[in-house]
Amino acid sequence: MPILEVENLSVSFKQYTGLKQKTHKVISSLNVTLEAGEILAVVGASGSGKSLLAHAILGILPRNASISGVIKYAGEELTPDRQTVLRGKEIALVPQSVNFLDPLMRVGSQVRTSVKNGNAVSVQREVFERYHLRQEVEKMYPFQLSGGMARRTLLSTAMVSGAKVIIADEPTPGLDPDVIKEALNNFREVADNGCAVMLITHDIESALNIADKIAVFYAGTTVEVAPVENFKGHGEEIRHPYSKALWRALPQNDFIPIPGSQPHPSSLPAGCLFAPRCVMATTECRQVQPEMRKLRGGMVRCIHAT
Ligand SMILES: Nc1ncnc2c1ncn2[C@@H]1O[C@H](COP(=O)(O)OP(=O)(O)OP(=O)(O)O)[C@@H](O)[C@H]1O
Ligand code: SF4
Ligand SMILES: [Mg+2]
Repeated sequence: MPILEVENLSVSFKQYTGLKQKTHKVISSLNVTLEAGEILAVVGASGSGKSLLAHAILGILPRNASISGVIKYAGEELTPDRQTVLRGKEIALVPQSVNFLDPLMRVGSQVRTSVKNGNAVSVQREVFERYHLRQEVEKMYPFQLSGGMARRTLLSTAMVSGAKVIIADEPTPGLDPDVIKEALNNFREVADNGCAVMLITHDIESALNIADKIAVFYAGTTVEVAPVENFKGHGEEIRHPYSKALWRALPQNDFIPIPGSQPHPSSLPAGCLFAPRCVMATTECRQVQPEMRKLRGGMVRCIHAT
């Protein structure tokens, strides 16, 4: 049984233009599952809904957001009450923004309050050492930290939590290559010990080194879920035209940019959301949004994928 299941998640925001209230759906029909012991990398353009998915799972979306669909943890629906109980304990977030640190608390104490097993002080000191944070950092307040130090503090908090699910939202930008390597290896280590990790990242190369599966997001929906082994060569084994294009756009591959841009949530096209940029699009593609379907050991949202 998957430890985390997200089924047909939609997230909408109420917004006012003058006196008029409008609802923008920014995530629609998003599906992902996460098993204990695995790392699922989530990739996709900026604005494709990766952080909102993380915040929906943790139950920390802004007040003007409304959601539909089902999120299950260990087979049971993750209600707002369960989210409050499990947050930071069984489900931990490494947030994308360093503003999540408590500005009024010394960072050493913040990490200590998350320690699940062992002596809180020594566990905190060990994890700081692992991420190259000097001992005096534990006495500092968040405003005294550089961006990289703050990010390493957030990583430390999740790593000591003993959580069964870690959702890491872009945990490594701006960090030294050796700290990035350390952090990624730690994610693999906790996953090998039974934790489920969702690693949201722009760094597809690093993700491929440690992840088991890759979920590709586009304009607020999942277009493909594939085993990492499919990402090789010219992308022949990748299922969805967008994931293929994303792969081929990498500098180390063909470095071919994808023409056009991801649609804004306020002006989504009818039918397949990728149709305006897709070289394989047919009239049929522009009529209904394709359902997610199983294909060659993965999932794809494309009617023509083979
Ligand atoms: N509070 C909000 N109110 C209205 N729209 C929002 C709000 N937060 C996010 N959005 C919109 O939802 C969409 C998805 O945002 P999200 O932050 O999840 O993207 P992302 O994939 O994490 O991007 P990035 O890679 O830049 O972190 C974007 O179009 C964004 O503008
Ligand atoms: S459904 Fe059609 S437009 Fe959408 S990705 Fe597949 S081929 Fe392209
Ligand atoms: Mg984000």
